[in-house]
Amino acid sequence: MTIKVSITLNGEKVSAEVETRTLLVEMIRDHLGKTGTHVGCDTSQCGACVVHVNGASIKSCTMLAVQAQGSEVLTIEGVARNGKLHPMQEAFREHHGLQCGFCTPGMIMSALDLVSHNPDPDDHEIREWLEGNLCRCTGYQNIIRAISAGAKAMRS
Ligand code: FES
Ligand code: FES
Repeated sequence: MTIKVSITLNGEKVSAEVETRTLLVEMIRDHLGKTGTHVGCDTSQCGACVVHVNGASIKSCTMLAVQAQGSEVLTIEGVARNGKLHPMQEAFREHHGLQCGFCTPGMIMSALDLVSHNPDPDDHEIREWLEGNLCRCTGYQNIIRAISAGAKAMRS
């Protein structure tokens, strides 16, 4: 059985005809072509699929597309503005907060949600917040530095 799901994706109204069992991440990637949101596991552990739904970060592999009906969804493709990287993206680049980059979209979407709640997080708070985001490459140290610097840039 299929259903038409309409959302606002990165500021643009879009819709797709999906199976009722389709996950939000599948709708975003396979139906709407935004492949910046990654799938790194099938156990809801890795956080590569994190997007914002109505302003809050969620793992888009844990939500059905139909549950997002009418929602505002922000993916990594919607973070840069007017051809300019977001300060948090710039901070990841500057502080080498990535190696292969697979986890990076989810890391950045999680980091942006953290900073929206806590504009000046300390390293411990950043580490705690990233509990649901796994990175197999970096050892996390540069990701923590990048988020701290990105938060600082967002405050100024
Ligand atoms: S794909 Fe791993 S938590 Fe969603
Ligand atoms: S940079 Fe490779 S998984 Fe994080």
